[in-house]
Amino acid sequence: MSPLSRRGFIGLVAGAGAAAGVGVPLLSGIAGAASTGVALTSQLPLPRPFTVPLTLPPVLRPTRSDADGDHYEITQRAASVEILPGLRTTIWGYNGIFPGPTIESTSGRPAIVHHTNQLPVPVVVHLHGGHTPEDSDGYPTDFILPGNGFNPVMPDMPGMAPDPLAKITTGERTYTFPLAQRATALWYHDHRMAFTGASVWRGLAGFHLIRDAEENALPLPRGARELPLLIADRAFNADGSLRYPSKDPSLLMLPGVEQQYTGGVLADVILVNGRPWPVANVDRARYRLRLLNASNARRYQLTLDPPPPGGNAFTQIGSDGGLLTAPVPHEAIEMAPAERFDVIVDFGRYPPGTEVVLANGFGSGSTGVVMKFLVGSATGDPSRIPDTLSTITPLDPAHADVTRDFHFADAGDQSGWYINGQPYSPTNIAAAPKLGSTEVWRLVADFAHPIHLHLVHFQVLSRGLKGPGEYDRGWKDVIDLRPAEEATIIARFDDHPGRFVFHCHNLEHEDMAMMGNFRVS
Ligand code: C2O
Ligand code: CU
Ligand code: CU
Repeated sequence: MSPLSRRGFIGLVAGAGAAAGVGVPLLSGIAGAASTGVALTSQLPLPRPFTVPLTLPPVLRPTRSDADGDHYEITQRAASVEILPGLRTTIWGYNGIFPGPTIESTSGRPAIVHHTNQLPVPVVVHLHGGHTPEDSDGYPTDFILPGNGFNPVMPDMPGMAPDPLAKITTGERTYTFPLAQRATALWYHDHRMAFTGASVWRGLAGFHLIRDAEENALPLPRGARELPLLIADRAFNADGSLRYPSKDPSLLMLPGVEQQYTGGVLADVILVNGRPWPVANVDRARYRLRLLNASNARRYQLTLDPPPPGGNAFTQIGSDGGLLTAPVPHEAIEMAPAERFDVIVDFGRYPPGTEVVLANGFGSGSTGVVMKFLVGSATGDPSRIPDTLSTITPLDPAHADVTRDFHFADAGDQSGWYINGQPYSPTNIAAAPKLGSTEVWRLVADFAHPIHLHLVHFQVLSRGLKGPGEYDRGWKDVIDLRPAEEATIIARFDDHPGRFVFHCHNLEHEDMAMMGNFRVS
């Protein structure tokens, strides 16, 4: 791999500036440069925020548990649900709900999930953050075709060869997740080649939490004081249906979105666990918020309004890959698509009756607020935030076997998004790490690109000339690359051999070819 020359890097920065200067609508005007994308407007009056109660997705019970692990059944189907008060919205959901049911597993105990596809399109299930063998990782061409006997011919992406390795099933498929990894919040979502953005937008996303003995032993808030919060923006048509600018609304033939949205689709309704700007009653106590940005393209800067007396609104205890070594105070949490933040908020610091808004500093108007907490009078809090949470051994770049360079940039003609000048193709292997090796990847972006690696967690070594950023601590599986930014990450490929993808998790970028393969052997 030839390192990018300094001259090349500067050229890229200039290119990005020039593109923005000629009015290419890639950067959201509303949110400054905070999110790459263009806002889609709902065609109906938006409901008043903070009127709908927060709900939590139900925890899925195993159909049986045996020596192999815990077995689950999920049916992917369309359903009519109430999202906006008084209106019906057809979603595509795991078991017909959005978010899908939460799966809770114990580290090291496999989850064996049997999916039935009753949707009219192929689906692919990926467990994001899972250290999963390739057969069950949800490779983008490993379709579960519809069970209705209609097997659409998938179009190729531009310049893409058919995938000779695709493992295709019809109607159903069993995924086995070993979960031999630390406790953390994973999420499962659709991953079909070229249609992930549209399918996730319709509702195919849910939590999968892993617990372990180390975390269970900590005196953290638990039970009703642990809230998984899946945050996602959506837009609606006048009849309450979901609005998304697919070129082909059947999601069968023509991939991609209308030209002006190739930068990413942003919307004006913020949903938390599928509810618009919900409100939650909380005790005067510590709560553990398992934050997930499940938006296609929107970045958030979450704050508490009013901030708690004395500051330090959020105490971060974990990231994508589980617990940090020690708690970290933040006034705000910045989250790119697919990132998870595990934070403690102490509502005991507010007087009873305080209304605390979870606000979004990267939004304005309807996107400037996310949800509200109503602080009650109940107290009594056995929880504590220990000074030491876990151990993380830093990976040492001096011991890396290979250094690679990846350049994430638009195709030059608004047709899509490339990695090292190449559109995604299942047959093009961009990196071939040896099993057990450690690699440093140097990532360079034109616009904001949240870059995700399957299979592994990594550590962030640097951003530009500085060390890791404020939100880069711990084990990560997404790095939030900002416009014209360069970062280095380090990973060990010691889990499973096979072909896996890495990609931008702005789902419109992913669908429009900003994805590559690495093969571990
Ligand atoms: Cu969240 Cu390739 O996935
Ligand atoms: Cu993933
Ligand atoms: Cu991107």
